[in-house]
Amino acid sequence: MTKGPKFYITTPIYYVNARPHLGHAYTTLVCDAVARRKRMLGYDTFFLTGTDEHGQKIERSAQAAGITPQKFADEVAGQFRRLFDRMKISYDDFIRTTEPRHKLGVQELWKRLQDKGFLYKGTYTGQYCVSDEAFVEGAKPGDSCPDCGRITETVSEENYFFKLSAMADRLLKHYQDHPEFIRPETRRNEVMAFVRSGLRDLSISRSTFKWGIPVPGDPKHVMYVWLDALSNYITAIGFGAEEKKQQEQYAHYWPADVHMIGKEIIRFHCVYWPAFLMAAEVPLPKGVIAHGWLLFEESKMSKTRGNIVRAETVIDVLGNDALRYFLLREVVFGQDGAFSFDALVQRYNSDLANGLGNMASRTLTMINRYFAGKVPYPSSGASRKPADDEIRDQAQAAIAEFGRLFDDYQFSRALETAWSVVGAVDKYLVEQEPWVVADKAVPGREGDENKARLATILYTAAEALRIVTVLAHPVLPESTAKIWKQLGLQEIDRFNLADLKWGQLPLGGMLGDIEPVFPKADKTTAIERMQQMEQERSTPPPATTQPSPTPATPSEGASAKPAATPAAAASASPASAPDGKITIDDFMKVELRVGQVKFAEKVKGADRLLRLEVDIGSEVRQVVAGIALAYEPEKLIGRKVVLVANLAPRKLRGLESNGMIVAASVGEEGKPVLAGFLEDVPVGAKLK
Ligand code: MSP
Repeated sequence: MTKGPKFYITTPIYYVNARPHLGHAYTTLVCDAVARRKRMLGYDTFFLTGTDEHGQKIERSAQAAGITPQKFADEVAGQFRRLFDRMKISYDDFIRTTEPRHKLGVQELWKRLQDKGFLYKGTYTGQYCVSDEAFVEGAKPGDSCPDCGRITETVSEENYFFKLSAMADRLLKHYQDHPEFIRPETRRNEVMAFVRSGLRDLSISRSTFKWGIPVPGDPKHVMYVWLDALSNYITAIGFGAEEKKQQEQYAHYWPADVHMIGKEIIRFHCVYWPAFLMAAEVPLPKGVIAHGWLLFEESKMSKTRGNIVRAETVIDVLGNDALRYFLLREVVFGQDGAFSFDALVQRYNSDLANGLGNMASRTLTMINRYFAGKVPYPSSGASRKPADDEIRDQAQAAIAEFGRLFDDYQFSRALETAWSVVGAVDKYLVEQEPWVVADKAVPGREGDENKARLATILYTAAEALRIVTVLAHPVLPESTAKIWKQLGLQEIDRFNLADLKWGQLPLGGMLGDIEPVFPKADKTTAIERMQQMEQERSTPPPATTQPSPTPATPSEGASAKPAATPAAAASASPASAPDGKITIDDFMKVELRVGQVKFAEKVKGADRLLRLEVDIGSEVRQVVAGIALAYEPEKLIGRKVVLVANLAPRKLRGLESNGMIVAASVGEEGKPVLAGFLEDVPVGAKLK
C-alpha cells in the first residue's frame, strides 16, 4: 500500500501511581481502533501512548511503597505496557517521561519559553491538588479540589511563572478560527467561557520536592508536571532531538491530528498546552477530542473511589475482542457510559456469539458441506431473487455509512450499522432456507436450478460476511483476522479499505479451516468468574477501627477529658481476649504512620481545634486536632507526628478530619503532648 497523508494520534500519558484499569484501557483502545482504520485506509499513521512518571503524586506513592520513584515508575509503566500489548494495542511508540529523549525535549521547550520572555520568577502561595497535580485558583486552606473533591494542600514556594494571562486573546481567536480544535461542541463552549472569565499567570515549576525534570540553569526547581507531561506529544516524535532522523520524524508528523483525552483534563490540553506552544512558536495540534467517563457502580471508575475493574479480568473470561467491542458499541462516544458485567455478557452473547460468530460458522459450514469448501458462483439468471439484491444493497450502503460514522467518532452507531447487515443476513438465511434448497438439488445434475439458487444464497451470505468482517477489523482485530482466514483470504491488515466494495470475494476460492470464534458464554458463570477475579485482584481494604476520640481529635466542643490511645480504644472490639486484653490481631488493625505537618492553622470559632495538613508519604491528610491550647500552629510546621491512618473520616466544625494524631494526655486537665521520635524517621513509615 502506498503511504497516503500522515495521521498522528495520541492518548493521554497515564500516571504511574497505580495499576491500569478499564478507564485507561478505554481511551487507548478508542485510539487503537482509529489508528487501525486509518492504516487500512492508507494513511501514514503514527499512534503514541505512554506514561506520566514525575510529580509529587508519584514521589509519594513510591515513598509509601518504600522504593525509589524510578523503580516504582519502572514497575507500573511495565504493567501498562504489558496490558496494552495484551490488548493488541498497535502503538507506534510508548513514551515514558523519565526517558532522556523526553527530558532533552522538554528542556528545549523551556528554553524557548524563557528566550521569548514568557517566564519570570515569583512566589506561589495557594492551594494545590496533588491528586490532579493542579493549582487550584481561588481556593482557601481546607477547601476541596473542585474537580476531584480531595482536600487541597497549602503550598508556599518560589516558582517560575508562565505569562498565561497574556495569551487569552490569542487563544480565543484560535478557538473561533478553528471550531474543530475542541470537540465536542459542549467542551469547546466550556473552554471558551473559562478563558473569557480571565486567565492568571501559571506557576510552572516546583521547588519543594525533587521528582521532576530540573529547570535548565536552576536545578533547585523541577518543572511543573503538566508542562513536562504535555510536552510528550512533541518530544516522543523528536522535538529537541539531536539526531537528524528524529528531527525529520518530528517535522513529518507534527502537528498532531488528534489528542484524545478524558473530559477531566480538557483545561490542560485546550488552554495550557496551546498557550505554551503559541509562546514557543510551535504549531498547535489540529484537534483535541474529549470523551466521557466509564462509570462503574454509578460513579467514575477510578482508583481513588476504589470502584475499578481491570481489563485483564474481562480479557481472561471473554477475550480481548469482547472487551473492545463492548466498550465501543455500548458507550456512546463523548458521553459517560456505564460498565456492568451483566451488560457485557449480554452484548457478547447477542452480538458476537449469536451475531457475527453464528453468521460466520453457519455460512461457512454450509459452503463446506454443499460446495466442498469452495466459494460458489452466484447466479445472475432466473434463480436470483430480489432478497439477494437487498442484501447486496444494504451491505454496499453499510460500507459508506460505517465509514462516515466511524470517521466522525460515532463508533457505536457505526457498529450498529455493520451489525444491521449481520441481522439482515440472519433473516435472509431463515427465509431462503438454503438447507431446504440443498435437499431439493439433484446431485451431479448440470444446470440444476436448486444448486444455482443455493450457490447464490451462500455466496451472498459469505460476501456480506466478508464486508462486515473487514469493516469491524479495527475494533475486533483478532477474531476478524480468524474469520478472514476461514473465508480463504490472506492478511486482513493489508486490505485497502478505500477499495472495499461488493463482489470482491474470489469465486471458487478455497475456504480455510472453520472453527468457532466466539463460543457462547454461560451468563451466570461468566459474571461470577469475573466478579471473583476482581475480588482476588484487588488488595483487601484496610481494617477500620472506631476508637473514641482522644484529645487530638475531639468531638466538637468536647471537654479535654478522654485519655484513650488508639490501641486502648480497640480493646472494646468483640474480638478481645477474655481478660480484657486485646489480641495482636486487634492491635494490627490500627494503622499507625509517621506523618509530617505541612500546614497548621486555628479553626475559626473553636478555641481548642487546629486544622492540620499532614503528609503521610502516600498522601497529605487533613486532620482536625484538639491541640490548639497546647500548640501554636506555626511551631508545628515540619514536626513529625504519629497518625492513626485508617480511621473513618468524620466532620468537626464542618471540616473533614481524616485520621487522628496520637498524643499523651497529661495531668488533671488532660493536656495533649504529641508523640514523637528521638531518631529521624521517614515520613510514611508504619508503626507496629
Ligand atoms: N497523566 C495525566 C495526563 C497527562 S496527558 C499529557 C492523567 N493521567 S491519568 O492516569 O489520570 O489518566 C487520565 C486518562 O485516563 C483520562 O483522561 C482518560 O483518558 C482515561 N481514564 C481514566 N479513568 C477513566 C474513566 N473512568 N473513564 C474513561 N476514561 C478514563 O490525567
